[in-house]
Amino acid sequence: MTSDISDFDGAELIKLPVITDPRGDLTFLEGSRHIPFDIARVYYLYNVPVDSERGGHAHKQLKQVIFALSGSFRVRLNNGTRQQDYVLRDPRRGIYVNRLVWRELDLFSQGAVCMVIASHPYDEGDYYRDFEEFLAAAKAAV
Ligand code: TYD
Repeated sequence: MTSDISDFDGAELIKLPVITDPRGDLTFLEGSRHIPFDIARVYYLYNVPVDSERGGHAHKQLKQVIFALSGSFRVRLNNGTRQQDYVLRDPRRGIYVNRLVWRELDLFSQGAVCMVIASHPYDEGDYYRDFEEFLAAAKAAV
């Protein structure tokens, strides 16, 4: 189910460093170095029922990087032209999701934790929650 997002317009894989020693692994991220925008907000999903479906929206301006800090889940992306699935399961790897990309998160494993690094504070006005409205905006932006 995991597939290559390297040629998907609107998303890319971000690989973070890891420092491994006998005490465990340590991964870090810095705004200007690993994340391609100034970080304005961090939020995380946890206690997610395994049959839950999250997301189901796109953003007008917001950019995000999504990580699975623990466990795994599927990220389904649609840029208005193509749909692409990616299963996040490695806390060192995140998916950068540009503006105008519809995302759906599902297939959560038990105990999965999803951390999202975002470019803006929360603003409901920045959401497309209607897929047809998003599609029209995405096609107009090409
Ligand atoms: P929503 O973005 O729909 O969650 P998801 O896409 O993960 O399914 O947000 C769910 C609710 O939480 C909604 O009422 C908005 C609120 N919310 C905030 O208040 N601040 C935030 O940073 C986020 C992401 C959501």
